[in-house]
Amino acid sequence: MLRSFVFCAVLGLLSSASAGALATRNAPQVNEAFGLYADGDSVGVHSLFYAGGKAMVGDPSNSTSADAFPVSFTRNSASSSSPWTANPNSTTTTDSWSDEMLYIPSSCSSSDEMGFIPSEEANETTTGFIFYGQYVMVKNEAGDISSSFYIRSSSAGEGVYSLLWDAGDDDTAIPVSLRSAKPSNS
Ligand SMILES: *[C@@H]1O[C@H](CO)[C@@H](O)[C@H](O)[C@H]1NC(C)=O
Ligand SMILES: *[C@@H]1O[C@H](CO)[C@@H](O)[C@H](O)[C@H]1NC(C)=O
Ligand SMILES: *[C@@H]1O[C@H](CO)[C@@H](O)[C@H](O)[C@H]1NC(C)=O
Repeated sequence: MLRSFVFCAVLGLLSSASAGALATRNAPQVNEAFGLYADGDSVGVHSLFYAGGKAMVGDPSNSTSADAFPVSFTRNSASSSSPWTANPNSTTTTDSWSDEMLYIPSSCSSSDEMGFIPSEEANETTTGFIFYGQYVMVKNEAGDISSSFYIRSSSAGEGVYSLLWDAGDDDTAIPVSLRSAKPSNS
């Protein structure tokens, strides 16, 4: 119920505000590097970054994590069965990780936090990510498509949020859309 509400809200947004932008802003090409941005009514648009294996939203330089990096993604296929590969988008040589996959917590996880892992565990799902124009959606094994992304304020830095999946029953979670480009007016 909540899931479909959020999905409809995203589609509503697509059909009104962004219809024109969508026509010119397509999904990143296969093998083209892209960043991801969370876009929420009350919080504005902020980039997704890596902090110690967790997916965070905000400015990585505000993170208190010793292991915070801007992230560049690629996908080697447009298929939903192809995981999205993340790498640090930085010029330093001290990167502590590479080639990790973005995941949402699976239904057997007690966590609602998204993150990055080198190899998938049963409690993490690294497949299902697809683009609808520039918007990220998740297609489950039954073929249902939803966009149930949220952020929750984190104590790990000023203006830093955790990126969440399916967190609608948490009153402090803010629904966001996830997209591959910043809107041109932000
Ligand atoms: C990587 O970082 C640079 C510099 O901040 C930025 O211009 C570029 O868009 C980023 N690339 C991706 C794929 O996010
Ligand atoms: C999956 O399980 C491992 C090992 O118990 C744990 O460290 C990790 O945080 C879990 N991930 C999620 C998304 O629940
Ligand atoms: C990062 O921190 C500075 C203050 O140190 C603050 O002004 C800025 O808004 C923060 N950035 C974000 C994206 O919240």
